[in-house]
Amino acid sequence: MIHYPEPVQILTGDSAPDQAGLALAAGSLVIIPTETVYGLGADAENAEAVARVFQVKGRPTDHPLIVHIASADCIDAWAIDVPDYARDLAVAYWPGPMTLVLHRSNKARDFITGGQDTVALRVPAHPVTREVIAKLGEVKADNCAGIAAPSANRFGKVSPTTLNHAVEELQDLLDANDLGVDGGHCDIGIESTIIECTGSHPIILRRGAITESDIEQIAQLSENESNVRAPGMLASHYAPNAKVQVIQSTNEITHTSAPVGLLAPHEIDTPPHVIRLGAPTDVHDYARVLYSSLRAADDKHCETIYVISPQGPGIAAAIRDRITRASTQG
Ligand code: TXA
Ligand code: MG
Repeated sequence: MIHYPEPVQILTGDSAPDQAGLALAAGSLVIIPTETVYGLGADAENAEAVARVFQVKGRPTDHPLIVHIASADCIDAWAIDVPDYARDLAVAYWPGPMTLVLHRSNKARDFITGGQDTVALRVPAHPVTREVIAKLGEVKADNCAGIAAPSANRFGKVSPTTLNHAVEELQDLLDANDLGVDGGHCDIGIESTIIECTGSHPIILRRGAITESDIEQIAQLSENESNVRAPGMLASHYAPNAKVQVIQSTNEITHTSAPVGLLAPHEIDTPPHVIRLGAPTDVHDYARVLYSSLRAADDKHCETIYVISPQGPGIAAAIRDRITRASTQG
């Protein structure tokens, strides 16, 4: 007999957050929407559930997970020796696409932190997931209960920006009790900015929608390199099956018999016989469509994805960072 995996149950509507919170408290995994990308969530204090997250993702267990919490008031439950500038950043940009790496408290166990003495915390802005976190806290009688969630993709692959993308990629690996919560297309589309806050000044570990200049409005960035190990910052990451090639002009596109795709700002025309994967209208739209464009290339069996990157600082730099990693063959 052929074994077909049970489909993941998809939750929509008003009762979704409560059901999802209950499932997390019971030890199941839940795919959750955030404003950045979809996450594969588990109760951050449940060792077995967290172990399944690593298994489903195919991720080495020494790559730590971000803990998603209800509010900045929960920083001291999860972290110690929190510098003032980190609290200021939290007040300024939470809820939002920013993750703070802090010295951990005893609540942040080795199975979350990969054995490091730091923990990564984020208050997501997506209203549905904020309700899921609240429900988990209610069931556990702990307002600072957290959801440990990496992006809901297989290790090294493209992050999902719709529930469908996450379910397609993970459903064969999930159990019948696991759930997916539909929260629409992610607003931002690239992962949160990760900021190390263990020294006298903040250090950016991963660029995102909270930019260098956003941070510098609150605190001066460190001139030093980070000593913190941030696995997942691998050269090759966010990789679709198709080869990603960065170009400056569509004149560089070379044709073979295989289909090729193009992701480029909308003002750039699509040459004949090229599949247009994305035509973002501005830099925020570029971040929003980046990952779905890379996925579309695989659906359309493109051999090569030609990419013209956005120019400038801020979120454009975060996008170029993702494109570079996607173009690095692993
Ligand atoms: O936007 C996001 O950040 C999404 C959504 C779901 O919140 N999450 C996400 O998680 O991108 P993930 O696991 O795919 O990437 C988190 C990164 C990893 O590179 C990990 O190594 C790093 O954060 N990280 C987590 N905890 C850390 C820690 N204690 N110290 C240094 N880096 C850490
Ligand atoms: Mg990821």
